[in-house]
Amino acid sequence: MLKEVKQCEALLCLLTDKIDQEIIGANPQLKIISNYAIGFNNIDIAYATMKGIPVTNTPGRAIVDAVAEHTIALMFAITKRICEADQFTRQGKYRGWEPQLLLGMELVGKTIGIVGLGRIGSGVAKRAKAMGMKVIYSEVKRNQQFEKEFKAEYYTLPRLLKSAEVVSLHVPLLPTTKHLIGKKELALMKKTAYLINTSRGPVIDEKALVQALKKKQIAGAGFDVYEFEPKLTAGLTKLLNVVLTPHIASATIEARSEMSGDAAENILAVLQGKRPKMLLNKEVYGKR
Ligand code: GLV
Repeated sequence: MLKEVKQCEALLCLLTDKIDQEIIGANPQLKIISNYAIGFNNIDIAYATMKGIPVTNTPGRAIVDAVAEHTIALMFAITKRICEADQFTRQGKYRGWEPQLLLGMELVGKTIGIVGLGRIGSGVAKRAKAMGMKVIYSEVKRNQQFEKEFKAEYYTLPRLLKSAEVVSLHVPLLPTTKHLIGKKELALMKKTAYLINTSRGPVIDEKALVQALKKKQIAGAGFDVYEFEPKLTAGLTKLLNVVLTPHIASATIEARSEMSGDAAENILAVLQGKRPKMLLNKEVYGKR
């Protein structure tokens, strides 16, 4: 990438590409950094801003719905033990109906705690509400309109962790959200609670999580992202009380088509001298 970036005006990058000062500084002609992702923790935006380079992402409708749907899919999979049951059945262990075979948790009437109420967090809340769950949320700022619309309640993070049967993370990865959920926070959760993460892996201290799951300190977890992805923390795949997907929450045909189109359009706009729609560092355009 270091070699290639010197020869281009626009950089189209993936969330797995680390766009640091070395890459950004390698080409003074670089006009735009277009991330093919909604998350943008892979880019040193402050440095790009200092260099006057616009940075864009792809926060369209389809990716938001895809990630919200995947979150609900993980919630169902883990609380209904779908993957465990699938393995059990494939392994020929199904000998007949039993009253207590693979008992799971009902979602109706349970409380979902949404950590981070952006568009994805709200999308998950909307779906959870439609399923009869009670919605609580924690956010930097209260959203009273949301509270009214979804009969949702604003909680501090510790109180949310103590109260929810399903905790779902939807914060961006920032220095302030790294290891937002660690040993101390996991200890606050109910023994019967499930943790879902479709945001970014490092939001959770994965080692602490594996310990908590091993000790059955929480009931289970559904993950699409990992602290050191694609590497998984030792012990994670040995656990039965987890459902693991390989960072595919936005992998619907609809979302990926939208993301490619948006990433390309952001580049075309800049090359045509226009301000891109999905700009992350408005400062580069000053007061224009
Ligand atoms: C996926 O994780 C994205 O940020 O688009």
